[in-house]
Amino acid sequence: MSDSVSQPPARFRVGGDLEIHRLGFGAMRITGKGVWGPPPDHEAALRLLRRLPELGVDFIDTADSYGPDVSEQLICEALHPYDGLVIATKGGLVRAGPDQWSPDGRPDYLIAQARKSLRKLGVERIDLWQLHRIDPKVPRDEQFGAIRQLLDEGLVRHAGLSEVGVEDIEAARRVFPVATVQNRYNLADRASEHVLEHCERLGIGFIPWYPLAAGSLARPGSVLDAVARRHGASGGQIALAWLLRRSPVMLPIPGTASMEHLEQNMGAASIRLSDEDFAAIERAAR
Ligand SMILES: NC(=O)c1ccc[n+]([C@@H]2O[C@H](COP(=O)([O-])OP(=O)(O)OC[C@H]3O[C@@H](n4cnc5c(N)ncnc54)[C@H](OP(=O)(O)O)[C@@H]3O)[C@@H](O)[C@H]2O)c1
Repeated sequence: MSDSVSQPPARFRVGGDLEIHRLGFGAMRITGKGVWGPPPDHEAALRLLRRLPELGVDFIDTADSYGPDVSEQLICEALHPYDGLVIATKGGLVRAGPDQWSPDGRPDYLIAQARKSLRKLGVERIDLWQLHRIDPKVPRDEQFGAIRQLLDEGLVRHAGLSEVGVEDIEAARRVFPVATVQNRYNLADRASEHVLEHCERLGIGFIPWYPLAAGSLARPGSVLDAVARRHGASGGQIALAWLLRRSPVMLPIPGTASMEHLEQNMGAASIRLSDEDFAAIERAAR
């Protein structure tokens, strides 16, 4: 097996200026069941978050709706004043209960939520604020206009979108510079491949949520086992290493509430997949 591989750089500049390690952390799973309410063990959630910088993680993804509020508040309690960490949050989804999500893209609502996120995170400016969903009930340009206002007022440094197509990205780019796009994407779910390619062409960060297909790519017996054995790694680590290798704009944010899983997932950053491995993984996934 050849080790001569051209790995994409380990770091990426969000919006051209905020440099981060490409393997980040998704903070959706540190809340209660159904992404609702507090975590079962508050201190354990704080310990998990405080471990992130020790593991070299400097990019954390959250949202006002995770809990709601709980994830942002825990991040603040554990990590404020952040010291080199880039905290990305989102707004635009409202919660009526566990596992219930619905979009609200009214401009006044989006701006009010971003202001609340500022307070919950304890910052004067949000590093990266993402529109969680384009609300089909509100003209999308009005939602993009709210983002433009957040940028113009200096409340937000960079802005991004989530679950969008190429045409949405282009419409948004007419209103504000799109720094990131966050769509569901993993080895087994490539529906957003063309969106990824578009982001790559434009240098937009592509944040694949569900990078481990909620853990199913990390279970023993997955299609990744053969490559994983060759690297002395787990299937989940290989799924993440494949993402990192797939594109220099890829910014995976695996989520977990488990310290053991967190440490394992972050180990993926040091796995170097050869061209042969990369091709074998793609074949196995098909
Ligand atoms: N933009 C959006 O619409 C959107 C939607 C969903 C999520 N997100 C973001 O994307 C992040 C990641 O997405 P996700 O949490 O849905 O999916 P994911 O990262 O693919 O999967 C997380 C799940 O996998 C399990 N897991 C993690 N590491 C594991 C390991 N090493 N071995 C076995 N199981 C493991 C976790 O359980 P344990 O806790 O037991 O480890 C958790 O249930 C979220 O945290 C959130 O920030 C964004």
